Amino acid sequence: MNRPKITIVGAGNVGATCAHWAAARELGDIVLVDVVEGMPQGKALDLMETRPIFGFNAEVVGTNSYEATKNSQVVIITAGIPRKPGMSREDLINTNKNIVATVTKEVVARSPKAFLIIVSNPLDAMCYVAYKVSGFPSKRVMGMAGILDTARYRCFIAMELKVAVEEIQAMVLGGHGDDMVPLVSNTNISGTPLTSLLSKRKIAALVERTRKGGGEIVALLKTGSAYYAPAAAAVQMAEAIIKDQKRVVPVSAYLNGEYGLRDLFFGVPVILGAKGVEKILTLKLTPSEEAMLRHSAAAVARTRDELKM
Ligand code: NAI
Ligand code: 2OP
Repeated sequence: MNRPKITIVGAGNVGATCAHWAAARELGDIVLVDVVEGMPQGKALDLMETRPIFGFNAEVVGTNSYEATKNSQVVIITAGIPRKPGMSREDLINTNKNIVATVTKEVVARSPKAFLIIVSNPLDAMCYVAYKVSGFPSKRVMGMAGILDTARYRCFIAMELKVAVEEIQAMVLGGHGDDMVPLVSNTNISGTPLTSLLSKRKIAALVERTRKGGGEIVALLKTGSAYYAPAAAAVQMAEAIIKDQKRVVPVSAYLNGEYGLRDLFFGVPVILGAKGVEKILTLKLTPSEEAMLRHSAAAVARTRDELKM
């Protein structure tokens, strides 16, 4: 069978859930890689055993080595550690920098034509690591954050207005942190501006909840962070590439002059298709959104500089 191959590195919460969504959507054969012995094999076998129930034939393989990842079309990198008590942000950056660099070297050696979708945090900086280490063209390296942040924003608006989520058109740009920028001026409900449906105070609360969306889940779960929506978002990106869907979505993309920013991975709207990031779109922003975007970019650039790459 000649199905596309999707490698997912890191078979933890996000990685295993990516495998689950991708298998259920039958996007291709899946290779799940992790350093923990037996764990990716066990999760892969468990997913394989769902095939008779759901009726899909894609294969899911779990492994601790990279041999089975050869010639992957898409590689989703979720390997890394979350922040633990007593760890500084810099500790997390350095630990995940080393993990993402090691993993990237392994996958690109076997899949030189792959598209890399980075999930590990701090997201925009980890995209930079994968880009530098892989030597791939920037169109083939991207990060998942904007689709997740936008999904949260749309979800909160739908909950507030009690309307179907599909009716809400919106986009969240910027870095994947508390400075992210939900574009209120562009948000509409089937053409009706959000600003004409809710008060400034209510909109500000929705924006704040979106910015802190990851933290809200962490506080509820107590251990670990969100994984259902993050995995769904990463799989949507893989699907857009594999099926050449030309989706217009926000992703962390390499900027070289766009939005006045250079040598930086940052959340912007792109056309996502068979060539990866096919085009970066420039949106018209209000002066205050423009200022918020600059603020977010400065924070992302500081983290990139901490990488010293
Ligand atoms: P997790 O701890 O459940 O899974 C991480 C997995 O990576 C573990 O199974 C671990 O064994 C594995 N791993 C560590 N080093 C490895 C290596 N060198 N090679 C292969 N596997 C390795 O964590 P979870 O919840 O799956 O999150 C993964 C990462 O994704 C974290 O950095 C998290 O902060 C980030 N994240 C990013 C989001 C985004 O919006 N960009 C959303 C959610 C999570
Ligand atoms: C999130 O936004 C932790 O980055 C992760 O849920």
